[in-house]
Amino acid sequence: MNLVLMGLPGAGKGTQAEKIVAKYDVPHISTGDMFRAAMSEGTELGLQAKSFMDKGELVPDEVTIGIVRERLSKADCEKGFLLDGFPRTVPQAEALENILSELGRNIDYVINIQVDQNILMERLTGRRICKSCGATYHLVFNPPAETGVCDRCGGELYQRPDDNEETVQNRLEVNVKQTQPLLDFYEEKGYLKNINGQQHIDQVFSDIDSLLRDLK
Ligand code: AP5
Repeated sequence: MNLVLMGLPGAGKGTQAEKIVAKYDVPHISTGDMFRAAMSEGTELGLQAKSFMDKGELVPDEVTIGIVRERLSKADCEKGFLLDGFPRTVPQAEALENILSELGRNIDYVINIQVDQNILMERLTGRRICKSCGATYHLVFNPPAETGVCDRCGGELYQRPDDNEETVQNRLEVNVKQTQPLLDFYEEKGYLKNINGQQHIDQVFSDIDSLLRDLK
């Protein structure tokens, strides 16, 4: 199962990725998570990524492509992969085609979670994430049973530094600009599957799951 998950910031990529991975046991490759891990380890990559992420800009293609190339060549990706948040530009998509052809692989589906831009601000500013296990919540749409505490592992919940209003606004503008050419790229290749992301989280997953069952 070789999948790409697309959608504007806050569309629900991370939320649905958790569910896909739990059911289908494919490695979840989130470039955003990889950059955040590098930042908390204080590596060179982390320092480089931080200067872009803090402003809501994209990390340069050559850096991003490099980490994905390395990750996809790891042994656990032999059984498949779920790319989340990559590619985000046409040059990244072209590089992915090259990487996969070197590995003798193909994309099965590009799943695009569609959500109107005007509801994404509320989704992102209300998001909370577990420091320990990375589970995602929302203060209104998907609250934890106890305020500030992860249902799954009891860890502390925090707000991502790029989920403040000003940075979210810039993330949305930057991503909207990049998205249409990328959708056209994948539409032309016949990989694109659009999913309505404005339904309940479980219904969004059910729609994705109907697609994925065909691949098993
Ligand atoms: P990244 O970490 O990928 O962030 P993003 O794309 O901005 O997406 P998010 O993680 O914010 O949102 P999501 O779609 O996963 O939504 P979620 O499921 O959490 O990237 C961060 C940064 O890293 C980028 O800005 C860039 O700088 C850099 N970067 C990463 N990849 C890059 C690349 N390829 N090239 C260059 N730079 C790159 O849901 C959001 C909230 O909504 C949650 O609270 C959730 O509970 C709630 N929610 C989810 N689904 C629903 C629903 N159906 N109904 C109601 N609420 C819902």
